[in-house]
Parts: sequence; structure tokens; C-alpha cells
Amino acid sequence: MKSLAGYLLHPKIPTNQEDLRIIDLGAGTGIWAEEIADQYPNATIDAVDISADQFPPESFRSKNTHFWTHNCFEPFPEQYLGKFDVVHARFWLCIVNDDVAKQLFENFVTLLKPGGYLQWVEPLPRTAHVVSRNGGAPAPACEKLVQTWMKPTPLSSYDWVHALPRLFQEFKVQVEVEDKFTNPDRYLPIAAQTFLLGLTEYLYKNPEVEKYQEQLAMEHAGGAFVDVACTFVVGRKLVG
Ligand SMILES: C[S@@+](CC[C@H](N)C(=O)[O-])C[C@H]1O[C@@H](n2cnc3c(N)ncnc32)[C@H](O)[C@@H]1O
Repeated sequence: MKSLAGYLLHPKIPTNQEDLRIIDLGAGTGIWAEEIADQYPNATIDAVDISADQFPPESFRSKNTHFWTHNCFEPFPEQYLGKFDVVHARFWLCIVNDDVAKQLFENFVTLLKPGGYLQWVEPLPRTAHVVSRNGGAPAPACEKLVQTWMKPTPLSSYDWVHALPRLFQEFKVQVEVEDKFTNPDRYLPIAAQTFLLGLTEYLYKNPEVEKYQEQLAMEHAGGAFVDVACTFVVGRKLVG
């Protein structure tokens, strides 16, 4: 993602203030937080997730990162409210449907100082498409993956991601940047490996998934992949 965008934090976000405080929500493995901690050694970085399972072991964390667990749909503890120069959120797509997007967004904004910045990064499901350099051979497994991106379950609804800048405006976070990136060819094979690995998580529900993985892998080897654009939206919390 860093190579795709060319930045971890958009260069428009000021980072030269003393006591810079950054928080990463849904931090997962903490890779973004740890890279940011390396880039800004004088900043303090909080990394929050509902589960500590993927956090790096304490002895492998930077001195300036603080990992803690919290359900981000619940109000944050008082001591964090309005304290952050930058709030970062990435890859909430699989967790959030339209019915709860506003609630989550509003909760995130409570962490920002007035004038603080929110950077939110998501794939755009409706941009999913097959990229094939296979002489026109059919790629049904890739086509199926495109459909899965658009609607993984009958109840999935992702309008909120496509309308992310509107959420910013609604909660008085002025949009400063809306970048969109599609993968160059060189990233598609490695991105495909990640999706294949991700599908393994569904194996326990449906043993057919293994066959689907094999079909996808064959189509990839023949020169057909699925690409999905990513959006990076950056906004500034209005003062007052
Ligand atoms: C797809 S991962 C994204 C990881 C990370 N943001 C990244 O870009 O590498 C989604 C993360 O959200 C976390 N998560 C899911 N529901 C959550 C909640 N209600 N509150 C906080 N974190 C949550 C999951 O545990 C998981 O680590």
C-alpha cells in the first residue's frame, strides 16, 4: 500500500509539531503504526484493535508505539478524546456495512484535536475488474472473485465506502485529498497471493473453497488477475 500511494501519511498532513500524536484504529499487525513510528521517532503512536492477537510481541515494538485493545464502535476512554493530530483508519471494509458506518465515523472523529487530520484508506469494491493478458481465455474464477468483491454476503452493503468523502463532510471534517490508485501489473501477482491466502479463512465454512483457490491460482498462472482500486481520503476537522 505504501508503494502504491507513495506515502504512509499524505504529505499534506503537517507532522512537524512537537508532541505529534497519531492513532491507528483497527491496527491489526501494527505494521502501519510501526512504520509511522520509525518515520516520526519523536511522535507518539497509539495502535488500537479489538484484539491483541496480531500485535507484535512487546519486545518487538518501537519505543514510541502504544498498543491497546478497544472495540472502536464503543466510545473511547475520556483521556483520548480530542487528543490526536492524526487519526488513521485502513481496511474496515469487511467489518462495516452501511448501517453502522456513521456510528463508527462519528466515534473516530471524537479522537481528533480541532484542526486535526483523518486519513482513511479503503478498497472500492465496485471498481473490482479482471485484468487479463491471457490471449482472451475465459477466467470464470476471476469473474466470480469480482462478484465476491462487490457483495461478499447477501447482507453486505458498501455504499459508505464509495461515499466516504460525504461522511467526512457530514461530520465536519473538510476533505483535502481524495486519491485513488489502481495496481500496476507488477503488484497484481503479489496481491493475488494475499487474496488466495485470505480465502483460506473461509475453508472451515465451505470445503469447496479449496477448489476455487486452485482455479484462481491456475487462472493467475495463465495471466488473469483481479484488481480493485483503493481510495485514500484525507480531511481536516473544522475548528469550532
Ligand atoms: C483487515 S484488518 C486491517 C489491519 C490494519 N488496519 C492494516 O491496514 O494493516 C481489520 C482489523 O480490524 C480489527 N477490528 C475488527 N472489528 C473491530 C472493532 N470493533 N474495533 C477495533 N478493531 C476492530 C480486526 O481485529 C483487524 O485487525
